[in-house]
Amino acid sequence: EIDKKVDSLLSLMTLEEKIGQMNQYNGFWNVTGPTPKEGDAAEKYEDLRQGKVGSMLNVRGVEQVKAVQKIAVEETRLGIPLIIGFDVIHGYKTLSPIPLAEAASWDMDAIKRSAEVAAAEASASGINWTFAPMVDISRDARWGRVMEGGGEDPYLGSKIAIARVQGFQGEDLAANNTIAACAKHFAGYGWAEAGREYNTVDMSETLLRNTIFPPFKAAVNANVKTFMNSFNELNGIPATGSSYLQRDILKEEWEFDGFVVSDWASIAEMVPHGYAKDTIQAAAFAANAGSDMDMESYAYVHHLKKLVEEGQVDESLIDDAVRRILKVKFELGLFDDPYRYCDEMREKEVIGSKENHEAVLDMAKKSIVLLKNDQNLLPLRKEGQRIALIGPLAADKNSPLGSWRIAAEDNSAVSVLEGMKSISNSVTYSEGCRLLAGEADFVWETAINTTDKSGFDAAKDLARSAEVVVMVLGEYSFQSGEGRSRSNIDLPGVQQELLEEIYKVNQNIVLVLMNGRPLAVEWAAEHVPAVVEAWHLGSQSGNAIAQVLFGEYNPSGKLPMTFPRNVGQIPIYYSQKNTGRPAPVAPNQVFWSHYIDVDNSPLYPFGHGLSYTTFEYSNLQLDDNSFGKGGSIKVSVDVSNTGQRKGKEVVQLYIRDLFASVTRPVRELKGFEQVALQPGETKTVQFIIDEEMIQFYTANKKWEAEAGDFKLFIGGSSVTSLEAAFAYTDK
Ligand code: IFM
Repeated sequence: EIDKKVDSLLSLMTLEEKIGQMNQYNGFWNVTGPTPKEGDAAEKYEDLRQGKVGSMLNVRGVEQVKAVQKIAVEETRLGIPLIIGFDVIHGYKTLSPIPLAEAASWDMDAIKRSAEVAAAEASASGINWTFAPMVDISRDARWGRVMEGGGEDPYLGSKIAIARVQGFQGEDLAANNTIAACAKHFAGYGWAEAGREYNTVDMSETLLRNTIFPPFKAAVNANVKTFMNSFNELNGIPATGSSYLQRDILKEEWEFDGFVVSDWASIAEMVPHGYAKDTIQAAAFAANAGSDMDMESYAYVHHLKKLVEEGQVDESLIDDAVRRILKVKFELGLFDDPYRYCDEMREKEVIGSKENHEAVLDMAKKSIVLLKNDQNLLPLRKEGQRIALIGPLAADKNSPLGSWRIAAEDNSAVSVLEGMKSISNSVTYSEGCRLLAGEADFVWETAINTTDKSGFDAAKDLARSAEVVVMVLGEYSFQSGEGRSRSNIDLPGVQQELLEEIYKVNQNIVLVLMNGRPLAVEWAAEHVPAVVEAWHLGSQSGNAIAQVLFGEYNPSGKLPMTFPRNVGQIPIYYSQKNTGRPAPVAPNQVFWSHYIDVDNSPLYPFGHGLSYTTFEYSNLQLDDNSFGKGGSIKVSVDVSNTGQRKGKEVVQLYIRDLFASVTRPVRELKGFEQVALQPGETKTVQFIIDEEMIQFYTANKKWEAEAGDFKLFIGGSSVTSLEAAFAYTDK
């Protein structure tokens, strides 16, 4: 039905109008990329009137969206509505935790719900397309955009991709509270060399297929409507100009029938990449390679018509791109009612509603990871315990909002100070130090850390008189995110010094970390008795943290990314290869795979996270020790709550393929399940091991299972030692 409508509309369109659909302009207010030299508001308005614009990004609010939509619908010859895109990354105005934090929940229902809330608010503001989820796997915490993804693991990342796509798009894309999703950045962006933003990526097909592609493929299977290509080059070819990625893999092998938008100016950037000689050639490369829509390069709108007329781009490729774009517009219901996302009443009611705040609070609590809790220093007592709250992020209402929160109000998060005070009267506060020098607009500029230590003494006095010190340290919201790579991933500025100074006067420290990436905090992990990973948790941050600190909520988060001891260990990840020399043959040996100045182990491993109760695993059983084609093995394990509180545990299943046509990781996550247990309760958790679980991209260049011997591991983190063996016979 929709295909017919698309074809009939396409048959009415001039070449210029078709190319117009492939052109996306930034709005006139925010920018989420460098301001391009070419083009200005006047040119954009004029192009809009002439039907040379198919989409706009960074236009938001019913009034603004209506204004541009009205031009498209009423002033252009065919009246084709615009699709309005926006970076709804972790909420719109009411913010959820950053995606990396949400990933720590391992709770797919909660993640889906969070995307639903984001879609409800964004769509109430006139937006019908988000540039999310970012599903780039990354194992480099130096890269600032790890905050925006699901962490280091393709299995967990795939589950999250599905949950987020389903949450944004819902069951009915044409409903006025759902929006089109966008799997980005295709592909390899998370592998930027040395973690430096926009840097070169070179990787084998094995790595691409086994590690990078799965979450993208999962998004396609979940019916994601759009893809975004990537700034990076991949094996010498910019992703934007890669037919291999966009045509061979995405559109042919995976049969993706939505459209691909370029990243901001990534078509034009093929020139500085040293791939295209000028923007004209870049336009030809991108169109031929399957980049359907040009975001802010002005390459299609200025050059594509001539390129088609000269025969350098076949018009059938333009038709294919336009068909894809129109199809999504039809599916969104924009042709039935171009203003269906423009309802002032809904805008007032939905955005910032109590219900949305409750949902993001729930997500925030689920995202917190208890990294360490010696002598059960946590939870704190609400009464009768003198608590000093110290640190530059303790009263901060801005940093918890995290990066990518364009529509949220600055300083709108609940601070830790506010959250704690709402539960207890025993909290006193001292900032200790500031994080940033000056008051510049660090949203668009690089933040500079302060060196000022003048607040140390007051903080030490407060710590001296307290029984417990809660220190809130970490990164300002815009010290992670796009363009915020770091070569050192420690506590920025003078925070480490502050921590050590406070420790001299009071060792009873609960360190609450707020950050957008794993931090290398080895000193703290060794000295401080309790460490809580609180990421950038969004609007309800302080309430979520306070409820965890005071034990109103029992934390259950697990790390979606390995925390290194120091930056030199990066890339460090649990699913590493064994190497030919994995362990020393005798003490003090030199010739094995290790460093001489740091242990190979991480500071905190993938999957790690504690609770205020304890869990024990026992009775691991397999109903068979081998299976063949079409067969399976049933695995069960008993999980018991051996502590005093009810709690939730994420039961994780890892597999190791002992030998294969291409070497396999020492462990790979292949299943997980969250179980809630009352004190003293035991539940049996089951997994099914089948061919799908052991398939990978083999030396045959096929996704298949190979006969061989395997190990499986079950437990509460990637370093669990409960194991069993099984075989796959291929028969
Ligand atoms: O969606 C983003 C992308 O991830 C990075 N460049 C800009 C785009 C639009 O804001």
